[in-house]
Amino acid sequence: MKSKIIVARPIFEETLDRLREHFDVTDNQADVAWTKTSWTQALAQHAGALTTGSDPVDAEVLKACPSLKAVANMAVGYNNFDVPAMTAKGVQASNTPDVLTETTADFGFALLMATARRIAESEHYLRRGEWTQWRYDMFAGAEVHGSTIGILGMGRIGQGIARRAAHGFGMKVIYHNRSRLSAESEAECKATYVSKEGLLKTADHVMLVLPYSAASHHTIGAAELSQMKPSATLVNIARGGIVDDAALALALREKRIAAAGLDVFEGEPKVHPDLLTVPNVVLTPHIASSSIPTRLAMANLAADNLISYFTQGKSITPLNTVTA
Ligand code: GLV
Repeated sequence: MKSKIIVARPIFEETLDRLREHFDVTDNQADVAWTKTSWTQALAQHAGALTTGSDPVDAEVLKACPSLKAVANMAVGYNNFDVPAMTAKGVQASNTPDVLTETTADFGFALLMATARRIAESEHYLRRGEWTQWRYDMFAGAEVHGSTIGILGMGRIGQGIARRAAHGFGMKVIYHNRSRLSAESEAECKATYVSKEGLLKTADHVMLVLPYSAASHHTIGAAELSQMKPSATLVNIARGGIVDDAALALALREKRIAAAGLDVFEGEPKVHPDLLTVPNVVLTPHIASSSIPTRLAMANLAADNLISYFTQGKSITPLNTVTA
C-alpha cells in the first residue's frame, strides 16, 4: 500500500504526477487556507508532507502527528521547522539548497540595483503622470559599480552575490559571517572578512543573506541602522525578523539611511504599515527564488526528498539524521 503524503500548497502538476507514482497524495491545488489547527489535523492523517516556508512543523504540531515520518520543505530556509523536535520524534526534515542559489543571488542584485538607482520610486512617479521635464538631479541615486558592498551571512547565496559584485560590478566586497570562509573561497569572491560593526560603518550597500533564528532576530535594529552611512542602502532577501521593520521604516522616513529593498518582512504576508508609506523603499512579496525553472527544481527536489526517504530511508538533502 502506498504511504499517504500531503502537499500543503499548490504546486506544479508535473511534481504532483511524480509524487503520485509513489504515494497516495492529498493535494491543495485549490489553495484552501490552513489555520494551525486545520493544518495539524490534516498533517496527522499523513506519513509525509511537502511544505512551504509558511507551514509550521513545530513541537506542538508534531505532538498531534505520531504517524509523521518525513517533511520536505520547498525552501532553503527552514525556520518553520523545529528540527531538534523533528529529530526527537524520528521525523526526517529536508530543504532545497543549491538549486536556488544563483537565481536568488540574481534577485538580490536586482533589488540592490532597484533600490540604489531608485527604479521603483521613479516608475511610480512616471505612472502618476508627474514627469514633465528632464532635471539634472531627477531621482539621482547611489553608485553601484565601484562601491563597497557589505554582505551579512556568507553562505552559498551570499557568495553568489559577492561574485556578481566583485567580478561584474567591480565592487569592493566585505562580509561578516559566523565563520570565516576559506582563503580559497575569499579569493574567489574577492571578499574581505570584517566585524559586523566595521561592515555597517563602511558599506555603501548592506545585503542581508543570513538564516533566521532566535540568535539572528533583529540583527538590524535601531542601533545598527544608526551605525550605517546616511547614504547607504539596505537589502533584505533573507527572512523577516532579521530586520526590525518598525525601526527601519523610521530610519527611512528620517533619511538616516538612503533607501532599502525588502523581499521579506516580519509577520509576512503582512507588511508594517509605515513601510508602505515611505517612498525610499522597494517592496517585493518574497519572490527571490521565483524563476520558473528554479521553482520547478525546488518543487522536484522536495518531491525527490520524500521519495528518497520512503524508498531508501534518507532524503537527498536532509537537515537531520533519523533512522527510518
Ligand atoms: C525562500 O525564502 C527559501 O528559503 O527558499
